[in-house]
Amino acid sequence: MTPGPKTSEHLVEARKSPIHGMGVFALERIPKGCRIIEYKGQRVRWADHAAEKRSHTELFHVSPTHVINPKRGGNIARYINHSCAPSCEAILEDGRVHIYALRAIRPGEELFYDYSLALGRRFTRDDALRHRCRCGASRCRGTLLDVPPSRRTQVRRWTREAG
Ligand SMILES: C[S@@+](CC[C@H](N)C(=O)[O-])C[C@H]1O[C@@H](n2cnc3c(N)ncnc32)[C@H](O)[C@@H]1O
Ligand SMILES: [Zn+2]
Repeated sequence: MTPGPKTSEHLVEARKSPIHGMGVFALERIPKGCRIIEYKGQRVRWADHAAEKRSHTELFHVSPTHVINPKRGGNIARYINHSCAPSCEAILEDGRVHIYALRAIRPGEELFYDYSLALGRRFTRDDALRHRCRCGASRCRGTLLDVPPSRRTQVRRWTREAG
């Protein structure tokens, strides 16, 4: 197998975010296309976690049956917050997840990718509001969930009504 480009974990640090809890920030300019950091953790069966009834936003799906759990062997990639207008994307390569820059990122800028969370069923108003998005982007869809275009107006109304 040909090795891909190296990750550049030294380019980022975790600290408090204005969006939520901890976030990950650029320490220097990150060029577009840079492979910034691997989303590390233990590869575990999704079914084992689903049974625990905890919040699952930290778990990264790498196949229909398996997720990466950053609580074991994870790194600061677990602190990257969501934005509806993200600067990064998470790409699954050979069972591993890497975070890439979608555009050049300035020093001090917080990194985001679009979580597009899927629940495996049609989401309800409660689901959308439980995963409320506070990214502040002008085209914020109001939730960390993946929202099909046909439901965007409905979700926007729910979040507007909820205040
Ligand atoms: C993987 S954690 C990200 C790191 C998190 N900030 C922390 O300190 O642990 C995912 C959680 O962060 C929060 N989060 C991430 N992006 C968000 C956003 N745009 N708006 C609101 N909450 C967000 C949600 O609570 C989500 O369940
Ligand atoms: Zn948003």
